Amino acid sequence: MTNTVLRIDASARGTDSVSRQLADEVVSRLNPATVVSRDLAETVPQIDTRWLEANGTPEAERTPDQRARLALSDALIEELRAADTLVIALPIYNFGVPSGFKAWFDQIARAGIAFRYTEEGPEGLMKGKRAIITVASGGTEVDGPIDFATPWLRHVLGFIGITDIQVVRSDRQMVDAEASKARAADDLAHLAA
Ligand SMILES: Cc1cc2nc3c(=O)[nH]c(=O)nc-3n(C[C@H](O)[C@H](O)[C@H](O)COP(=O)(O)O)c2cc1C
Repeated sequence: MTNTVLRIDASARGTDSVSRQLADEVVSRLNPATVVSRDLAETVPQIDTRWLEANGTPEAERTPDQRARLALSDALIEELRAADTLVIALPIYNFGVPSGFKAWFDQIARAGIAFRYTEEGPEGLMKGKRAIITVASGGTEVDGPIDFATPWLRHVLGFIGITDIQVVRSDRQMVDAEASKARAADDLAHLAA
């Protein structure tokens, strides 16, 4: 059962956005008690030198300025921690993810919090969550040879411990709009309850 959804949008478009429309549909089907929305089309800053220095300083030793530098990252991580399901609306931009989405991931992927290094290699610490990704594209086939968005997203989610991932595709809209809609409908019909 889904209790808390963290919904993440990244499209620069509003109501015309296909990835947003599909995410609306997914959230409505999940019917969760709580939905927390994070819209990455609004600015999430890139990490910078001061952010890296703050993150590299042990928590107890951080200055007030360093704590402030990490405040957004801390809030984004709390949103992620609190969710049992992520619904991620992902347009393909220039064969990859929108820059806002990459900035979000850089903000949350902190060693010791989102993952840790062990003798056996890295271990994700955000286990026990499900992710549903609604991907939209004009011409790039989802999971095809030039899709660097969907496989990347699966990889980085796995890196932080989220491996229960399903994809709803409305890809190649410019090639065949009807076939694209049909793929999305089929994927929605096959979503695990
Ligand atoms: C800046 C930009 C880059 C894009 N790059 C690609 C691309 O590399 N491959 C592709 O198939 N479509 C590309 N598109 C088309 C979008 O993926 C397509 O319009 C999709 O529906 C966008 O998602 P949305 O409807 O949720 O906004 C691009 C669109 C924009 C605005």
